[in-house]
Amino acid sequence: MTTRTTRTLAAALSLTAAWAISGCSAGSDAADAADAADKPKMTVSGAFMPEPVNDKMAGAFMVIKNDSKTADKLTAVTSQLSDDMQIHETKDQKMQQVPSMDVPANGELKLVRGGNHIMFMGLKNKPSVGDKVTIELRFEKADPVKVELDVKERTYQAQHTASH
Ligand code: CU
Repeated sequence: MTTRTTRTLAAALSLTAAWAISGCSAGSDAADAADAADKPKMTVSGAFMPEPVNDKMAGAFMVIKNDSKTADKLTAVTSQLSDDMQIHETKDQKMQQVPSMDVPANGELKLVRGGNHIMFMGLKNKPSVGDKVTIELRFEKADPVKVELDVKERTYQAQHTASH
């Protein structure tokens, strides 16, 4: 009994010593925690899809908000509805595909009609007003975000909710 207690104590002491020796790792753990805290987390609001005219293409609009102090990029979009999801910008009233789009630190990426948007190229079926379409946004740093698009009338415009 006495021997065992001593051995346990010795083991406990050597464990403490090991922790003390590897004390520097506590610093990197703290750094990892800080990295995690800095990892951007995206919140999405006002996501909608105007009812597509045909099954060839559809657009998706929303505001992607980055509340962290780390800038990020929207890099890809996936959906069951289309195998070809693209990120488009509009320049001189013509839209073109881009590989990624910035989501600034403490800022927003606004996907609006006539501006930047997500595009479905080729639809497996044609959604109607009132339907929901799920997409997943992929970012360079932030975790992927699943977004449910409300299918709206073709003329629908996002409500501009005042932030003040
Ligand atoms: Cu487009």
